Amino acid sequence: MTIEKIGIDKIGFYTPEFYLDLAELAEARAVDPNKFKIGIGQDEQAVLPLDQDVITMAANAAVQILSAEDLAEIDEVIFATESGIDQSKAGALYVQRLLGINPRARAFEVKEACYGITAALQTAYDHLAAHSDSQKVLVIGSDVARYGVATAGEVTQGAGAVALLVTRHPRVLVLEQPSAYFSEDVMDFWRPNYSDTAFAKGKYSTEQYLRFLDIVWHDYQTKTAAQLSDFAALLFHIPYTKLGLKGLRQLTANSVTADQTALLEQFTKATLYNRRVGNIYTGSLYLSLLSLLQNSSLPANSRVGLFSYGSGAVGEFFSGILQPDYQVASQLVDVQAMLAQRQRLAVTEYEAFFNQKLPTDGSKFSVPFISQHAQFRLRGINEHQRIYE
Ligand code: CAA
Repeated sequence: MTIEKIGIDKIGFYTPEFYLDLAELAEARAVDPNKFKIGIGQDEQAVLPLDQDVITMAANAAVQILSAEDLAEIDEVIFATESGIDQSKAGALYVQRLLGINPRARAFEVKEACYGITAALQTAYDHLAAHSDSQKVLVIGSDVARYGVATAGEVTQGAGAVALLVTRHPRVLVLEQPSAYFSEDVMDFWRPNYSDTAFAKGKYSTEQYLRFLDIVWHDYQTKTAAQLSDFAALLFHIPYTKLGLKGLRQLTANSVTADQTALLEQFTKATLYNRRVGNIYTGSLYLSLLSLLQNSSLPANSRVGLFSYGSGAVGEFFSGILQPDYQVASQLVDVQAMLAQRQRLAVTEYEAFFNQKLPTDGSKFSVPFISQHAQFRLRGINEHQRIYE
């Protein structure tokens, strides 16, 4: 039962200005390009330059959508990441300062792999539902997905940030309650504190993703009596588009062909951006939402189902209703232009970017000016502190 109209009012997105063509990567790794294009379902992958990190990407995503009124009215900032820059201090505090957000706000960081931003979004919902004087919560998911050069996971890397402004009477998507969630201690993907690349049991992780989808979808149906025919589109966490496609096929296996075709058509539109950006971990589901909003023309009041999955593992299935102005309200970021102005890197250049490291011994280090189109950059590091501009 939905108590009050609370949900996503604006969506911002940022991805770095450099990318790798996966056909070139396939050639360099002596793999058939169709394995990456069809078998994995990815075309390109964002590459993070040294002057960007999860903080600057988050600020670059949020600055595009926030008005002066929003900055003054936000009273909670939740930063979700699994590639954070500090074991103690929340990324939300840097973003709050860089953007000039109201200091009378709660600002904190959450982590549960790719599920983190969904936990943040539901927390934002609860915050607004519980505090009638609160108006706006900023939720950000920002990550860089790193597995390592010439690893099995290399083709599923990427980088980017999504910012969600959560309000009452939102213009994009009203969140519905209840949702269905499931958690279990699973070792399918993890990154120990001493490693800057992730460890994954690749095939096992895909099995867990699909198992969790099965559980939360059936729980959701039990709670709500919903049928697949109630949904105009189904969205998935997209580490790579083929896995979302497997999720869609699993859910629609017993549907009539017309429903399967309609949902596949929306899924294709909802993964256009993911195919070109790669895995942005926790923001991936919401990048898929943005791709749907900007490339589809579903009627207002359509219901969208969302499956969030974070390895480790937590899964959640929830839904939302597209609002009358969603098509206008979701155009604040020009993703096509952002992708079009990126610079393609040769495989050797990508490897050099990947292997660059910031000092960890407290020495002073200046980061060169690299990102031409970004409003926020990492300028340097001194006495173990990152300096942003
Ligand atoms: N033409 C077309 N398809 C081809 C092909 C060709 N020439 N060659 C192979 N394929 C197909 C295979 O048949 C296979 O398809 P199916 O999955 O339908 O069977 C697909 O390409 C992949 O091939 P492999 O299974 O051989 O792939 P791989 O061993 O290289 O591993 C991977 C793929 C497991 C995704 C690996 O990239 C990986 O470990 N990635 C990181 C982990 C990950 O992303 N897990 C996702 C679930 S966890 C999660 O969701 C959280 C998160 O964000 C990390």
